[in-house]
Formats: sequence, structure tokens, C-alpha cells
Amino acid sequence: MSKNIDWSSLGFGYMPTDYRYVSYFKDGKWDEGQLVSDPNIVLNECACVFQYAQTVFEGLKAYTTANGDIVTFRPDLNAARLADSAKRLEIPPVSEEQFLDAVKKVVEANKDFVPPYGSGASLYIRPYIMGTNAVIGVKPAEEYQFRILVTPVGPYFKGGAKPIVIKVSDYDRAAPHGTGNIKAGLNYAMSLYPIVKAHEEGFSENMYLDPATRTKVEETGGANIIFIKGNKFITPKSDSILPSITRRSLMIVAEKYLGLEVEHREVLFDEIKDMDEMGLCGTAAVISPVGRVNDHGNIIDIPSGMTEMGPTLTKLRETLLGIQEGTVEAPEGWIYKIC
Ligand code: PLP
Ligand code: COI
Repeated sequence: MSKNIDWSSLGFGYMPTDYRYVSYFKDGKWDEGQLVSDPNIVLNECACVFQYAQTVFEGLKAYTTANGDIVTFRPDLNAARLADSAKRLEIPPVSEEQFLDAVKKVVEANKDFVPPYGSGASLYIRPYIMGTNAVIGVKPAEEYQFRILVTPVGPYFKGGAKPIVIKVSDYDRAAPHGTGNIKAGLNYAMSLYPIVKAHEEGFSENMYLDPATRTKVEETGGANIIFIKGNKFITPKSDSILPSITRRSLMIVAEKYLGLEVEHREVLFDEIKDMDEMGLCGTAAVISPVGRVNDHGNIIDIPSGMTEMGPTLTKLRETLLGIQEGTVEAPEGWIYKIC
């Protein structure tokens, strides 16, 4: 029985569900993992995650499809990215097999929290790994927990698909040759100060430029950036942005489903003024249209405007959601059935 939740009024927040998954790494290996009901974790005060932020995470969603199945979208790519993130922080990676098994178990156990088809909500899945034993000299932990929590969510930005205004940040989110390309808590810790400032100033998100020259578009605090110009889908290429699974999927949808020409390349900040549509894309953001960019008082108005999403981003969003919710045929291997 589906839980008695007002799905359509959900925002992007945390709600404890019935079960979470945990696997322990000890003596050089991961155990087989289990579901537990306690949402709290007790750790030593000197755990590496507390002292040196040794933690990496992922984000994906489960959907109810039009025919009532519960599915996730390309979880194999989340497994691979989590392993890449883990290696960069000297965390032992979990295998793709264990990752997929854990996602299946935890979503199935919480299936009553998966929002129904057509509600506009989904079940957000947050896998994470952290160093748990006491460490005071700077070195990796020897013991870890791989956990997955799930929580039903609505849109990441208030108003769902309404255009947002973002500002160019005074801060960098990543260093050249740093950790911008992995999903580590440390990248989000340093974004908290600029995001609080941006919200206080009335902006929805920060846009970060390339840290070396500050002339090229990178991404926002929680999503990659995409542009439409005529028949082209343009998205920045950089070693210091997170390789978004949504963006990589949209590149394929744009080309194969909508017949757009895809350009994955360096994008100069100065090019934004010539774009027709601009959006943020990610698991949480899906596609959120950007109506205006504020660069220290210099305003760039995107021609699609502040009232609604532009026509091409709308088509991309509808096609992507259709693939995820089973009303548009998916490319081979994109949909992973849970139950
Ligand atoms: N960029 C950042 C910094 C993110 O936190 C996210 C969210 O996961 C994304 C991009 C989008 O990635 P994905 O599409 O894999 O969710
Ligand atoms: C996601 O889209 O899954 C993310 O992790 C973004 C986060 C800022 C909520």
C-alpha cells in the first residue's frame, strides 16, 4: 500500500522511510550488506569522515512507470561514478554488482514510498560511502560503511519547470586538477557559503566559471549546464565538472530523438548572450530552465524568457521523462527494473 503522502506538494527534502541499506568494509573486504530500520548512525568521534571529510556519494531516482513497474535510470553509470569518486579519496570502491543489488533491495523494501505515476514526484536514492574508524594523522580510514537512504522528493527548484535566475559566483567550485569531476561531500561543503549568499540575494543557484581563467562556463553547484542555439545542443566540456548522467543521456536524446546537432566543447562565458535557451540538468534538477544570468550586475537575458521553458528544452525534458516513466521507448539498457 502506497503511503499516505501528498505527493504533489513534496519539495526536495528528506523524509525518513522504513529501511536503509548498509554494508561494512573491514579487514580489506565489503560484507554482503543488509537492510536496517534505524536512520541514525553511531560513530567514533575521530572517524575519518568527521575529521577529514572522507566521503563520496551518488544521486539517482526511482520512478513508477505508466504500467506500474518501479524502475531506475542507468544505475550502472552511478555505480561507475561512485567507484571513480571513491578511488580519488582512497576509499575502497564497491562493485557494480553490489551497488545494483543494494539499490534494488532498498527501493523494493521502501516501495510504498515510491510516488505514483503522474504525480510529478519520485523516490530519490542517495548512496554514500564514508571512512568510519578513528584517524587523527592525515591518512585514509581502514573501515568504511556503504549506505543507501531513500526519500520521496518533488522538484529541486521551487516552481518546478519555471525559469530561474542564477548568478556568476565570486568563488570557484573546483581547482584545476582538483576534485570537481567527482561526487565528494567536500565539493558541496565549500559551496555552502556561496549558495547561502546567492539565496540571500534572491538567486536560485551559482554559476561557476573555469577556475584557471574564469572565461569559460563550467556548471552550477548541483547541475551541469546545457544550451540551445538554433538546431544545436551545446554543453561545456571540462575536466573540473561532474560528468552528469542526465547530461550524457540528454546528448543522446538530443541527437537520436530530436535530431539536434550536439556540441560538447569548451563554452566561453561570452557566448551565453548568443544562446536561445539555457538550462540546468541533473538528477535532482531534471531540466530547469535559466531565464537570466546575473554577472555582477551585468544582466544577460536568455531569449526564452522568464515565463516558461523554451520549446526545445521542453521537448528534451518531456522525452527524457517519457523514457524514465516508460511512455517513450528507451535506448537499450537505460531502464533497470526493480519490481
Ligand atoms: N553537477 C553537480 C555538481 C551535481 O551535484 C550533480 C548532481 O548529481 C550534477 C551535476 C548532475 O549529475 P547527474 O545528472 O548525474 O545527477
Ligand atoms: C543530484 O542531482 O542527485 C545531486 O546530487 C544534486 C544535489 C545538489 C542535490
